[in-house]
Amino acid sequence: MSSEQMEYYKVKYQALEDLPGVGPATASKLREIGFKTVEVVATATTHELVSAGIGEATAEKLITAARKSMAITFVRGDELVKLRSSMRHLTTGCVSLDRLLGGGIESQSITEFYGEFGTGKSQICQQLCVTVQLPYERGGLEGGALYIDTENTFRPERIEQIAPRFDLDPDEVLKKIIFAEAYTSNHQVVLLENADEVIKENNIRLIVVDSVTSHFRSEYLGREMLAPRQQELNKHLHKLIRLSRAFNTSVVVTNQVMAQPDAFFAKVVRPVGGHVMGHTSHTRIFLRKGRNNLRIAKLVVSPFLPEGETPLRITGRGVEGDEDI
Ligand code: GTP
Ligand code: MG
Repeated sequence: MSSEQMEYYKVKYQALEDLPGVGPATASKLREIGFKTVEVVATATTHELVSAGIGEATAEKLITAARKSMAITFVRGDELVKLRSSMRHLTTGCVSLDRLLGGGIESQSITEFYGEFGTGKSQICQQLCVTVQLPYERGGLEGGALYIDTENTFRPERIEQIAPRFDLDPDEVLKKIIFAEAYTSNHQVVLLENADEVIKENNIRLIVVDSVTSHFRSEYLGREMLAPRQQELNKHLHKLIRLSRAFNTSVVVTNQVMAQPDAFFAKVVRPVGGHVMGHTSHTRIFLRKGRNNLRIAKLVVSPFLPEGETPLRITGRGVEGDEDI
């Protein structure tokens, strides 16, 4: 983190026990419900802490203290500019894709890659685990990656192939990727709820969840399960947003698509997860297969960038844009 960022993310309280009113008992209650660092307590709601058996007054007091410590509270417009200026861009390793994204993958929000099988979602995620380790001047975030894999597709061999393209030592790169396989949607949720310490200790600057929807989709079957599924997915995505803000990390999730039942002529697909995914992913990129084994990345939703698309190719060196070769 640059000195200017440190200035903004000034943490007065290092450990939970440093927060006023937090003794060993409260600290252990906090840890039990997945609030293990001051950064994440700052993003909690009073209700969450109360439901873990912490008194309301105490809960309010320590959330306020954590927020002050983190400087995330009400901010003036000019301060907001400053907060946003701590937002960083992570290079995808493809010049044209970075350009489409306005400089790369943003920190402090969720970027979603969605598309059919084999369109390169997991390939992009693995490449990002390498580029995040690059120095700032080369578009990296000088940090590690946390990879939550729900489909058992992460391949260390692939990282070993991609790293040399960015002049990085594959063994060193692999050491800075923290990997976890999530076996169920509940396991996936629990992994993230317990992630804040791991993120802090390993200087994680990129969190990948590949895929964020597959377990939810296969476990919550039938119409009557739709509401609970959306509710759980929503909570999960909000947890991701909080982590991205608390630690100024980029968050990249992948998502499959399903065929639109009412489309007769064109092959129309839409991402899984409905409105919940749509409202919480700040940047969405649709990947599709093009001619000659190309992949086309299309920016579909971004708060401030125009829509556009760019071709990509999956090669022995990872994912390449037409300007990289
Ligand atoms: P699902 O997870 O199934 O939805 O697909 P995905 O979008 O994650 O696809 P993924 O990123 O796994 O891309 C798979 C495609 O990448 C394959 O069809 C291959 O064409 C290509 N690919 C994977 N590994 C290599 C490799 O080592 N070399 C080359 N040249 N291509 C590869
Ligand atoms: Mg995949």
